[in-house]
Amino acid sequence: MPQRTIILGIESSCDETAAAVLVDGVIKSNVIAGQEVHRAWGGVVPELASRAHQEHIVPVVDEALRRAGVSRHELSAVAFTQGPGLIGALLVGACFARSLAQALGIPLLAVDHIQAHVLAHFVRDGDDRPLPAFPFLNLTVSGGHTQLVLVRSPLDMEVVGTTTDDAAGEAFDKGAKVLGLPYPGGPEVDRLAAQGDPTRHPLPMPQVPGLDMSFSGVKTAFRNLVRRGLDGDPAFVERELPHLCASLQHAIVAQLIARTRRAARELGVQTVAIAGGVSANSGLRRAVQELGRTEGLQVHIPPFAYCTDNAAMIAVAGAYLLEAGRIAPLDVVPLASLSR
Ligand code: KG4
Ligand code: ZN
Repeated sequence: MPQRTIILGIESSCDETAAAVLVDGVIKSNVIAGQEVHRAWGGVVPELASRAHQEHIVPVVDEALRRAGVSRHELSAVAFTQGPGLIGALLVGACFARSLAQALGIPLLAVDHIQAHVLAHFVRDGDDRPLPAFPFLNLTVSGGHTQLVLVRSPLDMEVVGTTTDDAAGEAFDKGAKVLGLPYPGGPEVDRLAAQGDPTRHPLPMPQVPGLDMSFSGVKTAFRNLVRRGLDGDPAFVERELPHLCASLQHAIVAQLIARTRRAARELGVQTVAIAGGVSANSGLRRAVQELGRTEGLQVHIPPFAYCTDNAAMIAVAGAYLLEAGRIAPLDVVPLASLSR
């Protein structure tokens, strides 16, 4: 039997410890351990995240290997998230991956987390979803990043637009916090917005030139709206909750879609795609499908499991690095901010 290429992917950039096994280009396991410990603090506490990664990493990797039916001695390479992310959290995954690669004498692959979110479109797991054709425009929206990226090939990506302040996920999470919703607020806002009227509390659309975006104005306008409402009526949030969520979601999604439309027209692409945690948002998923219909574009949206942080996308990104011969030295260090 020809030798199989087996890549272990490891993700530890924020508050999920994740491991996945890719066998000959197909994901065989994708394990994620979240960290409940941050809920009480209303956000990710970096020091607690590092400690939780240390506790989770060995069992999560073991479980990923077990589910894939692979022993660590069969691994061809180890891919890990080099950055961007919380430095203490990244260190846990980086040290583990470096040690494993050294002990097994196999290549180490240092993955850019934001590029990996885009490469989530290329995760194959047994179903035959169509893959986006190059070049395509990707809207990458997560808790830390909001970017429009022209993707020419798996390892050739150009950022053509970015947020000038907060990320879209941050706007969801901070808006949710104003409403007293638990962290992370994005999924809660999404759930509650389904029953709300998005036009009830209009929020301003920022005027940013070119293909850049801005979300801090939306956040401030939303906070002021809630404060004003509560001044006159202590039950304002309780009564208006679904409408407030729908209005916030609408304001964020409308800006993302307006910029994606402009970029698609300017760049003349035939295909648009979304990736990153916020691409799990049902309002954004609907709006980008609608954009595809009105502009005559192919649309690609990853399955939910590959939108938020996961190691399947890290393993897939690692496979492209391995193919290109881009092996990391064993003393490679994680980087809190990373742009290639
Ligand atoms: O990609 P991700 O898991 O981690 C980062 O790399 O940041 O993204 C996390 C972000 C959080 O801000 C979270 O609130 C947001 O994605 N998110 C959502 C939804 N699911 C996750 N935002 C809106 N609607 C959702 N359904
Ligand atoms: Zn992410």
